[in-house]
Amino acid sequence: MSRKVTKAIFPVAGLGTRFLPATKSIPKEIMTLVDRPLIQYAIDEARAAGIEEFIFVTSRGKGALEDYFDHAHELEATLKRGGKNDLLDILRGTNMDSGAIAYVRQHKAMGLGHAVWCARRLVPENESVAVILTDDVIMGEPPCLQQMIEAHGETGGTMVATMEVPMEKTKSYGVLDVAEDMGAIVKAKGLVEKPKENPPSNLAVIGRYILAPTVLQNLNKLREGAGGEIQLTDAIADEIVEGREVFGLRFRGQRYDCGSKAGFLQATVAFGLERDELRDEFLDYLNEVVSMQRAAE
Ligand code: G1P
Repeated sequence: MSRKVTKAIFPVAGLGTRFLPATKSIPKEIMTLVDRPLIQYAIDEARAAGIEEFIFVTSRGKGALEDYFDHAHELEATLKRGGKNDLLDILRGTNMDSGAIAYVRQHKAMGLGHAVWCARRLVPENESVAVILTDDVIMGEPPCLQQMIEAHGETGGTMVATMEVPMEKTKSYGVLDVAEDMGAIVKAKGLVEKPKENPPSNLAVIGRYILAPTVLQNLNKLREGAGGEIQLTDAIADEIVEGREVFGLRFRGQRYDCGSKAGFLQATVAFGLERDELRDEFLDYLNEVVSMQRAAE
């Protein structure tokens, strides 16, 4: 089995109801942090990690997402004529090679495991594959998936990104049961999706995965798990039951939960402050807002 990971699955079929009414007509993955859609952050991270093939698991109403990756020939020509080379570079940075993206449909919302399973025919049987959840935006250097691919090169098996969360928040996540804590890398002896009680640890699974080929086979069982959905976490936990290894990587970087409004706003502030052209003005404004709030209290 080759440990080289060149394909990534992006489950983007979700309805994004937490962001209604915005998501009434735009896919949530097109929502922007500063000026880049969430999906662009995910794609850039995948590319930095050496991913060459991008598999989108979509659903009805995601047309804008598919169009986003088309080359915008007219726009490019207009910018070129106007000598707007900086904008042209930004636009060209979003272009994908023909054939590098594949789309498969998930016809019914049956959970993350089911979404990943929908892509099974596009991943050769002996290949590991990455999964990126676009809701989890991670600011890190090197980017999170690259850190994972490097670590996975050493460990093999299946790897999930992980971070500590407050115990009372574990019920919102997949949670690792730790067999051995080696610092950055943790070996798991189990994983539980959204434990209602007695979480095995406070190490949460964050939306980056490198799946051994057997995980996709485990998904063939289409077993219902937490919330009546087919859970990716359960298919990963099956690996351990069958004697294969699963690791968590405590990645270096800051994760923003852009599936929640508060997380999205925090990410907007963080990515806004990262921009040289915005930082000073934006920081002045934030300081002003904070002092006004304090004075009003
Ligand atoms: C999904 C996974 C969960 C993971 C989380 C990370 O849950 O099922 O294991 O901890 O992403 O964001 P969701 O947030 O989609 O309910």
